[in-house]
Amino acid sequence: MVSKEERPYVIINCAASADGKIALPDKRQVRISSKEDFDRVMRLREECDAVLVGIGTVLTDDPKLNVKYDTSKQPAKVVLDTKLRIPEDAEVFKGGTKVYILTGKDVERTIEKENAEVLRCNLSKDGLIDLKEAMKLLREKGIKRLLVEGGATVIWNFLKEGLFDEFNIYISPIIIGGAKTPTIADGDGVKNENEIIKLRLKEVKKLGDGLLIRYEPWK
Ligand SMILES: NC(=O)c1ccc[n+]([C@@H]2O[C@H](COP(=O)([O-])OP(=O)(O)OC[C@H]3O[C@@H](n4cnc5c(N)ncnc54)[C@H](OP(=O)(O)O)[C@@H]3O)[C@@H](O)[C@H]2O)c1
Repeated sequence: MVSKEERPYVIINCAASADGKIALPDKRQVRISSKEDFDRVMRLREECDAVLVGIGTVLTDDPKLNVKYDTSKQPAKVVLDTKLRIPEDAEVFKGGTKVYILTGKDVERTIEKENAEVLRCNLSKDGLIDLKEAMKLLREKGIKRLLVEGGATVIWNFLKEGLFDEFNIYISPIIIGGAKTPTIADGDGVKNENEIIKLRLKEVKKLGDGLLIRYEPWK
């Protein structure tokens, strides 16, 4: 268990098509956000102490995860990377802010970069970074407000573990389709009706030509 005091305040945020997809069928990144949503996400990044993604997103999108305008408050970056597969020239390392890479305890490789810190964690039953331990470690590093930006597997696991305080989805009026296209929450999914993750609707608002839906945990 991890209490709210022991972990950062967690905001999950993603942009999806009207059919719930978050990338192209071959996983390549695609512009889904409107200008208004892009601006909102930049403000959110600025308000947070760190932005977290999975290694899947680093390998497909190679995002920088910074605030794209002049600010004195660039967030730290966090990557969940069980086997430490992150390339040394990944964009997240650029810009000088701290990059925490959460990896497994038995991984031998390390990262020789001034702004990188490798944090070694226990793994969960399914062989992924234990998110509860990861959240405690990040809180100890001074991260009080964490923005989780994806991708599909990471969002699923934060939702499944109940490790979130807000969940924002921008729905764009586009259709991407494809049975294997990444969706808002992938992973294994629930095994039966009792495991369904319930959310409480907090706000719905029109944003540009799309819709911003804000949820919070059911309890
Ligand atoms: N539209 C949006 O808002 C948005 C935002 C971000 C990404 N995306 C899209 O999302 C797609 C990538 O999603 P993805 O599911 O392939 O990758 P992902 O969620 O970014 O990363 C998943 C990987 O992270 C590692 N990981 C380690 N611990 C984990 C944990 N506790 N929970 C979850 N993952 C953990 C695992 O790889 P290891 O076992 O190797 O550690 C896992 O396979 C891309 O197509 C990208 O474009 C869209």
